Amino acid sequence: MNYSTVSVISNEPVVKNYGRIKLDASEIAATAKPGQFIMLKYWKGNVPYFMRPFSINSADRNAGTIEVLYKVVGVGTDLLRDLEAGAEVKILAPLGNWFEIKKHYKRAAVVGRGVGAAPMRYLAEELKRQGIDTYVYISASSPEYLFDQAYFEKAGCTFKQLTDDTKKVTSLFEEDLKSNKFDVAFTCGSNRLIRDLGRLMDIHDFEAYASMEEHMACGIGACKGCVITVYDEGKSEYVRVCREGPVFPIKRLVGDNV
Ligand SMILES: Cc1cc2nc3c(=O)[nH]c(=O)nc-3n(C[C@H](O)[C@H](O)[C@H](O)COP(=O)(O)OP(=O)(O)OC[C@H]3O[C@@H](n4cnc5c(N)ncnc54)[C@H](O)[C@@H]3O)c2cc1C
Ligand code: FES
Repeated sequence: MNYSTVSVISNEPVVKNYGRIKLDASEIAATAKPGQFIMLKYWKGNVPYFMRPFSINSADRNAGTIEVLYKVVGVGTDLLRDLEAGAEVKILAPLGNWFEIKKHYKRAAVVGRGVGAAPMRYLAEELKRQGIDTYVYISASSPEYLFDQAYFEKAGCTFKQLTDDTKKVTSLFEEDLKSNKFDVAFTCGSNRLIRDLGRLMDIHDFEAYASMEEHMACGIGACKGCVITVYDEGKSEYVRVCREGPVFPIKRLVGDNV
């Protein structure tokens, strides 16, 4: 993990307030694993002060590029939207742990919602590359926010979507669990998804992991701004999401956090 300066290859709007930026970052593309994140600074001066964290949406080792899918929510992401091809970006990456893909996995579920599912494209692409039968379940408030559907389908995943907010995306997974054995489920971003997967994990006996999101100032374990509580056999412990995470077994998360 090192600071480096990389250039923007493209930065395209996806739908209103969402964009996808591609960076020329061959070293990161070669080493980053699904679930890891990057810290970015792409403005001059000290406002805003801290770098901003983003998941790796996809990494192309052959092309030497990485992509980030982002939502504009404030000053930092507003500046991100304005970046043009050729602009230089300061980057610290790859950071954090990752979604481990174990040798015995034969079938995996990937569950997410909206832009919170940003790290799941890279994960699903890697699961398929390793020959794992991959089911992807994504919900969004409306179809234009199912950002990576085409990529999931191109990778050969079974893709199931929900744009009805009165229902739970995990109900689609629950239906498939009746007739299929899953070895593992992965999710990110949403406490509701984590809780639901925790319940299904207890009934159907699969491994389950979630990537957590917290406000981050440093991204490297120094500021302690991203600490959460996790649990191990009844005992609680503080961990830094940027350093010990962002990926945790769901059985360690269910408690005060979610
Ligand atoms: C590990 C990690 C991966 C992430 N991956 C992505 C990604 O792939 N795509 C993406 O669009 N965003 C992602 N985020 C969130 C992203 O970092 C923030 O949206 C961004 O830093 C906001 O910066 P800003 O200056 O635009 O907003 P600010 O002006 O700093 O804040 C605007 C609003 O957003 C809220 N906010 C800011 N950061 C967070 C956060 N981390 N969690 C919850 N609320 C927050 C603030 O409380 C405030 O209400 C990720 C965050 C983490 C920790
Ligand atoms: S962001 Fe500084 S310790 Fe995690």
